[in-house]
Amino acid sequence: MACSVIAIDGPAASGKSTVAREVAARLGYAWVNSGAFYRALTWWMLREGRDVREDRLASIEARANFDGTEARLLVDGMDVRQHLRDPEVNRHVSPVSQLPIVRAIVGRELRAIAAGRDCVIEGRDIGTCVFPETPFKFYIDASPEERERRRREQGESDSILERDRLDTGRTVAPLEPAPDALHLDTTCLSIEEVVRRILAAIAAPRAG
Ligand code: C5P
Repeated sequence: MACSVIAIDGPAASGKSTVAREVAARLGYAWVNSGAFYRALTWWMLREGRDVREDRLASIEARANFDGTEARLLVDGMDVRQHLRDPEVNRHVSPVSQLPIVRAIVGRELRAIAAGRDCVIEGRDIGTCVFPETPFKFYIDASPEERERRRREQGESDSILERDRLDTGRTVAPLEPAPDALHLDTTCLSIEEVVRRILAAIAAPRAG
């Protein structure tokens, strides 16, 4: 039987990661944060310097690794998790994510991870571009004020509204809800309530 993918898309600081991790834990699925894959490649490119060429990017070894709970992208064999939230990475991740070669690498590795296990995958284009065939699509949002408040509370320097603008406005795989995604606004909902609604939607028999 084919493995299941639960796609959770939405803007920055909407609550995706907390919800995706919890849904994955309750179902015993792998948790895959695709933003972390883009961040790992961004960190690698910043380290290489400004003029990374496409062919160099195409030749790097980027492999998704599953540790029993979470999938991570190893770049040239390195696990760079301690750098994923660096201010420099926050600043550059949206432009880097627009490069077709970068999207191709991440898309390939997401599909490889999902080929072998059931997954909850969070991101911007999971339901629209990477796994449009999955029946389990969710779009999580919250008001811009609430999202900025959450990010401030995490003590991070991250211009989330600017990232949203770039992610929404790009021509390749823009941030947008899939037509058949269930929308959840987390501004006034607890994590538990969002998780409960997702689990209920997955369990409900689908029309058609
Ligand atoms: O989810 P997170 O905020 O960590 O994502 C960082 C960035 O990675 C996003 O702002 C976006 O530019 C990019 N991204 C993407 N497609 C995804 C996931 C993340 O372009 N599926």
